[in-house]
Amino acid sequence: MARQSESGLPIEPVYGPDALGDWDAESKLGVPGEYPFTRGVYPTMYTGRPWTMRQYAGFGTATESNQRYQQLIANGTMGLSVAFDLPTQMGHDSDAPLAHGEVGKVGVAIDSIDDMRVLFGGIPLDKVSTSMTINAPASILLLLYQLVAEEQGVPADKLTGTIQNDVLKEYIARGTYIFPPKPSLRLIADIFKYCKAEIPKWNTISISGYHMAEAGATPAQEIAFTLADGIEYVRTAVAAGMDVDDFAPRLSFFFVSRTTILEEVAKFRAARRIWAKVMRDEFGAKNPKSLMLRFHTQTAGVQLTAQQPEVNLVRVAVQGLAAVLGGTQSLHTNSFDEAIALPTDKAARLALRTQQVIAYESDVTATVDPFAGSYVIESMTDDVEQAALDLMARVEERGGAVAAIEQGFQKNEIERSAYAIAQETDAGERVVVGVNRFQLDEEDPYEPLRVDPAIEAQQVERLAKLRAERDQGVVDHALAELKKAASGTDNVLYPMKEALRARATVGEVSNALREVWGQYTPSDVF
Ligand code: 3HC
Repeated sequence: MARQSESGLPIEPVYGPDALGDWDAESKLGVPGEYPFTRGVYPTMYTGRPWTMRQYAGFGTATESNQRYQQLIANGTMGLSVAFDLPTQMGHDSDAPLAHGEVGKVGVAIDSIDDMRVLFGGIPLDKVSTSMTINAPASILLLLYQLVAEEQGVPADKLTGTIQNDVLKEYIARGTYIFPPKPSLRLIADIFKYCKAEIPKWNTISISGYHMAEAGATPAQEIAFTLADGIEYVRTAVAAGMDVDDFAPRLSFFFVSRTTILEEVAKFRAARRIWAKVMRDEFGAKNPKSLMLRFHTQTAGVQLTAQQPEVNLVRVAVQGLAAVLGGTQSLHTNSFDEAIALPTDKAARLALRTQQVIAYESDVTATVDPFAGSYVIESMTDDVEQAALDLMARVEERGGAVAAIEQGFQKNEIERSAYAIAQETDAGERVVVGVNRFQLDEEDPYEPLRVDPAIEAQQVERLAKLRAERDQGVVDHALAELKKAASGTDNVLYPMKEALRARATVGEVSNALREVWGQYTPSDVF
């Protein structure tokens, strides 16, 4: 009797040559670093250099987060990844009424260039690549990063990193959107153009499936809805007059990795093959880099348990291995205590050490795409690919990703999957070790990291000082220029940069755009 995979596909008890029927290695597999990239985006993958160990981190004020980044660099992390607090992610200053109680909680509070300067103090921005998990206000944080680099004497064309900048998935899951879809897509096209001209090595977007997966999406839904968002972004940039090969090489992706290793490896391989075909056949991309689906992976936070938290070390190791066997370019491994609170220093170090054991003590980096040719993996890669293509067709039937979002299609599909997972778990059909099987009568004691509530007062004071010191006339003029550009067709990032240089705040810049573009309210589609 075949077991069902996370995507609801059969996993046969035994696979043999007949499982691959008329499977053709030439068209389905190819060679690493070449179309259709099933085996990975680079010819040598990890045999030359491991993936980027890029731990997502940030909390409290810029000072606290800067200390954590210095620790991570000292522990061997290879790339930075900034977590911002919700007020920053929603384009509100720390002293905004809506910010109360959230300042510095789920990430670092960044209100102005002053905070950004502290966040990267002592970190040479020409030597690190920095990912910033920021969406609606992504342009603001990117420009603050560029301005701080400028102060360090680092020219913009030397900067490497990524902004998540994927607002479409915020409407589907996660929710940190600000503006309606149309101006959001215009702003994203402005960012693509600006980076092409000013910051050419910057990855302009991280088209994300992670949050949809965390909300309950199956592996097939995760890649289908993510790639459908990707298609929407490419269409937007082409409609804004860009040649596909001018921006596609700097698109990037972000997926989850679950403990279900086989299906996750199949998922990543299927996603690369689908994207390569879409970019070549639908958009006529010619540059091989335009066809490469380069992605970051984060291990599944939703699979972490608060019960017996040390068991999460094992889950994260299995999830990390799935991402590596699937060919990820960059990886974040969750800390074992994150189901309870922000990671302690020791937990954050263990998370990184997990990657280092996989990279330097195992042999999975000795050869490219080790599962290639496997009856089960090639068969599951085909199955997941077909399931994803069917879902992408259903999005297309509804008019594409934005139209489907406005009809509530992706959200409804994911909620249905989430409900099924909850039912299976409650019924004990889906085992969660330590939670519905193998429980302890008495949990071991655990002391979580706590964020000092005084942080909010500190940030409010810093803002008052900044507003008192700056030249308000220059700020007002710069914000007026920004509003003029937002009302017209000029690229808003140029006046935005001057406003930020004059010490306008994240909230002030976001509010200027809110005045022109309005704020998105989801339709109550059920
Ligand atoms: N052969 C040849 N070249 C190679 C190579 C190989 N084997 N391996 C690497 N390289 C080269 C690459 O070509 C690249 O050079 P280039 O930029 O000139 O092309 C350089 O070495 C760096 O390699 P990658 O670009 O593959 O690795 P990066 O780590 O720099 O970039 C990425 C990876 C996926 C493209 C990038 O977009 C990235 O870092 N994304 C990270 C996103 C992230 O961290 N997100 C966190 C989100 S947290 C969140 O949202 C969840 C929260 O809400 C809970």
